[in-house]
Amino acid sequence: MGKATAVANPNIAFVKYWGKTDDALNLPANPSLSMNLAALTTVTTVEFRPGQAFDVVAIDGHPAVEQALDRVVAHLDRVRALAETPLGRERARVDSRNDFPAATGLASSSSAFAALTLAATQAAGLSLDEAGLSRLARLGSGSACRSVPAGFVLWEMEEVHQVAPAEHWDLRDAIAIVTEQAKAVGSQDGHALAPTSPLHAARVAAVPGWLAAVRDGLARRDLATMGPAIEADALAMHGVMMTSHPSLLYWLPATVAVLQAVRAWRAEGLEVYFTIDAGPNVHCLCGAAAAAEVEKRLKAVPGVHQVVMSGPGAGVRLVDWHLF
Ligand code: DP6
Repeated sequence: MGKATAVANPNIAFVKYWGKTDDALNLPANPSLSMNLAALTTVTTVEFRPGQAFDVVAIDGHPAVEQALDRVVAHLDRVRALAETPLGRERARVDSRNDFPAATGLASSSSAFAALTLAATQAAGLSLDEAGLSRLARLGSGSACRSVPAGFVLWEMEEVHQVAPAEHWDLRDAIAIVTEQAKAVGSQDGHALAPTSPLHAARVAAVPGWLAAVRDGLARRDLATMGPAIEADALAMHGVMMTSHPSLLYWLPATVAVLQAVRAWRAEGLEVYFTIDAGPNVHCLCGAAAAAEVEKRLKAVPGVHQVVMSGPGAGVRLVDWHLF
């Protein structure tokens, strides 16, 4: 019986992945760069079971159904197609748990598919290297490929590599939670809408400039160099979302309140920049020395329910595995 447990951290993109050039292969319309988040963890166990009739999947203790189940089964099918042992072609039991602070609305496909990929391949007797794991994880969810290496990670089309280890810079992400609700339109459906926006091509054309600024700032641990590019790309991505057909508007009043507050604090000399994923919660990036002050101020913004603090995280890793 092949069983394995893997742990992964989700990542926050400084330059976003939004829009695909190939839906089946999850090839992105533009390169992206992210930081793994140490404080948020997904732990996934996969066990292939001889004779089991179908895959059984539990997410946070509840049976997975519909799209969530289909995505996991499709990913297990990819692993089964690679497996060289009969056991790795059996149906599996999957148990995935997010160790995120309760009800943050931060459930992430990046850590989910990174952990699933490592656990499933190990349980199937496969040992893929980091590049192989990342490529396979990408097929489950694009952003998952960036949660495979540790620290700060660049994804360019089919290639993924670490640009700096987690120890390079104790950058902090203060995540302002303004709602605990799951989003109405998930990233998977959202990507398909990107080309319907007249702003999509303009954003894709602007990304190389923003990416260069982010890489430069990261290399020199200089938030002032990369912060404006991070904010510009997040706003451009949300501009694309808002002007897609149909339009996606993820922001809530409290989202805008945090954006305004961050800019006001910066004008006062507190170095902090924002980014936003496909949802209303706001990620505020700052240095370690400013983290406590940023956390305190965010908690006082009306509409902010809680603040989750994280530093840079590790890559996907194995916790425990047995191959009989
Ligand atoms: C806004 O990786 O969730 O978080 O490949 O369809 O699974 P799929 O999409 P997903 O998209 C992430 C979008 C984003 C930006 C980012 O993480 O780069």
